[in-house]
Amino acid sequence: MIPKARKAVFPAAGLGTRFLPATKAQPKEMLPLVDKPLIQYGVEEAIHSGLQDIIIVTGRGKSAIEDHFDVSFELEHLLETRGKKDLLALVRGISDMIDISYVRQKEALGLGHAVLRAKELVGKEPFCVVLSDDVIDAEIPCLRQLQDVYEFYGASVVALMEVPKESISAYGVVDAEPVDHMGQSGRLFRIRNMVEKPKAEDAPSNLAIIGRYVLTPEIFTSIEAVEPGRGGEIQLTDGLKHLLRSRPVYGYKFEGKRYDAGDKLGFLQATVEFALKRYDLGGPFRQYLKSLPL
Ligand code: G1P
Repeated sequence: MIPKARKAVFPAAGLGTRFLPATKAQPKEMLPLVDKPLIQYGVEEAIHSGLQDIIIVTGRGKSAIEDHFDVSFELEHLLETRGKKDLLALVRGISDMIDISYVRQKEALGLGHAVLRAKELVGKEPFCVVLSDDVIDAEIPCLRQLQDVYEFYGASVVALMEVPKESISAYGVVDAEPVDHMGQSGRLFRIRNMVEKPKAEDAPSNLAIIGRYVLTPEIFTSIEAVEPGRGGEIQLTDGLKHLLRSRPVYGYKFEGKRYDAGDKLGFLQATVEFALKRYDLGGPFRQYLKSLPL
């Protein structure tokens, strides 16, 4: 029997330099997309994918994340005395959502290093990793899609997306061969090799790793074995490449639309599209956009 993933690790200790000055004194994970912080989208995706435990890897200046998922007595009391039942339910819903544990990454030494900080809390079981900058709008949550593949093969799976050549150097990139899966071709790949943020001319393909992973616990030993890589950081991609020596690793071209909400333009695109989809804001917002002399 292949054990199921129950826990999701959210690395959230990064400095958010791509979004300065907004992230000078505020975690980028707390930037609001319409009216919810980025990280809440990822947490909701994990819940809708059947995960039961969240582990957030935080660092200095990130306490707003903990406060967001905690009970706010003052706010609840105020909303209660003012009879604002809907808002009270909304605020309570966030703290009741799921169990969250926190572990600190004292120095921002890379994504692989952040994941390694969760080793004790994860234990010897498969787990998911969610990068909350990557917001994915999908009918079936992306993490669920990856877990379905994991539960079939019992091997680590990363989310993949085709990206244009000019932006490939911003991603981990895979060299992979397509595998038929459940009568479908062109979505599942068996990874042969991978490289973190290659130059466009050195990229082995146009298939980029997107921030959703299902990993088997051997990844921890692999991360421990790698030296600092791109940017002098311990990279998760290098850990996965090491894991490939002893285990198969798959990539899955998920169904859905991904926004790079850690980037200013990507964030604006996500804001507009999510706002247009909202039942309460979509109509008036569309009207407003149409009125602009574009
Ligand atoms: C990280 C990973 C990279 C992946 C990307 C997806 O990079 O290191 O392999 O392609 O997330 O968003 P970052 O964007 O955090 O620099």
